[in-house]
Amino acid sequence: MHTRTLFTLALIGSTAAWAQGPVAPKSGAEVYEHYCAACHATGELGAPRFGDRKAWRPLIAEGQRMLERTAIRGIRKMPPKGGHPHLSDLEVKRAVAYMANAAGGRFKTYE
Ligand code: HEC
Repeated sequence: MHTRTLFTLALIGSTAAWAQGPVAPKSGAEVYEHYCAACHATGELGAPRFGDRKAWRPLIAEGQRMLERTAIRGIRKMPPKGGHPHLSDLEVKRAVAYMANAAGGRFKTYE
């Protein structure tokens, strides 16, 4: 095969791998659905439920930085990063903003 064809194929291959994105950070919605909804959709273990404005109001009032910290480090029955240590801090922050904003917050989304 011609060297240039091989080079082009390699280039296409690496672009495809990039597009599928193990390196691209997940969106807040994606992180929420896959890693947070398990507890936050149902209120499992006393987790503040998704979209429950009353439950989230006092949390939102603590401020975005504070909630990001507790989500990353964990608090009481909430495990650090919801028990998914492979999530990046950015991904957890996006999920926090997604959840807070669904309950009336106006957090910065980082997306
Ligand atoms: C295993 C169940 C579980 C999972 C999974 C989980 N949470 Fe939680 N989360 C909780 C519980 C329980 C609380 C309430 C903790 C408390 O205040 O006692 C909570 C509270 C929180 C709070 C409020 C923190 C505070 O200051 O009280 C945030 C923000 C939060 N979770 C974000 C997330 C995010 C983001 C994810 C996904 C990456 C996630 N949680 C996944 C159980 C979970």
